[in-house]
This record gives sequence, structure tokens and C-alpha cells, in this order.
Amino acid sequence: MRRVAITVNGTRREAEVEPRQLLVYFLREQLGLTGTNVGCDTSSCGSCTVLLEGESVKSCTVLAVQADGHDITTIEGLATDGELHPVQRAFHEHHGLQCGYCTPGMVLAAVSFLAENPKPSEEQIRHALEGNLCRCTGYHNIVKAIQAAAE
Ligand code: FES
Ligand code: FES
Repeated sequence: MRRVAITVNGTRREAEVEPRQLLVYFLREQLGLTGTNVGCDTSSCGSCTVLLEGESVKSCTVLAVQADGHDITTIEGLATDGELHPVQRAFHEHHGLQCGYCTPGMVLAAVSFLAENPKPSEEQIRHALEGNLCRCTGYHNIVKAIQAAAE
């Protein structure tokens, strides 16, 4: 077992983890933050996307020990003082979700993308989302939501 200290949504969390423990299971099972979903476990779908120091990463490809000493943001940490993050609000207003399974990962991928590219073209948005799959194929409204959030 290894001791890690990871700041998750602004709170420092210390825990013992197996060296092979994936970050996604640390978040879901040890911290109970089940907003981060597991869709494939093989780094294909993006439903496990979180922010690591503000950059989107697939948390099924990161070991918990690799996040030691770092800041993680999950979907649970995006709203502030009960106010949805602008990207969350845009997904809500533009119906950027159907079953919602891909949504936390889509929103976090969009937050990270817009931080780097605040005025993206539709093509750039579609390109940025290539690593995030929506099994409901709701891409059209997801792209519209991200365009609205950028505005
Ligand atoms: S569960 Fe991580 S990419 Fe699919
Ligand atoms: S809304 Fe169902 S998987 Fe994307």
C-alpha cells in the first residue's frame, strides 16, 4: 500500500492505495465521488474524464499514485456556491445530454478545452471531443452547448 495526498475539489484527501489502483476507482470507491463514470476501462470513451491540474485526463489511464500531490477536479467540484459552472449551464440550456452517462466527462473535457481555446470554431470543438464518446449520439447539441458556453 502507498499513502497518497490528493487535493480533490479543493479538499486535501489522504488515503492508503494499492500501487495499481486507478484514479477513477480511487475517486468512485474510496471517496464516493460517483459522478466520474466508467464506460470502457480501456481509455476509449472519455466518460471518466477529470481535470488534473486543470488539464483533462481520462482517470482510467492514471494511477492514484500518479495523482499524489496534485489537484483533481471532478464534476462534483465544478459548481461554486450552488451555481452551475457556465459549461454545465450551457449543457442544461441546450439539451446537451440524453441519458447523461457521458455528460460529466464531456463537460470537464469542454472546460479544459475552452480554457485553452476560448473562441473555438465548430470544427475545433468536434476535434477536441474526439476522445469522448456519446453512446446516445447526442453530439449536435453537445457542440451547440459548448459554442454557447464559449459565447
Ligand atoms: S472509462 Fe476511461 S476512457 Fe472509458
Ligand atoms: S448522453 Fe447518453 S451517452 Fe451521451
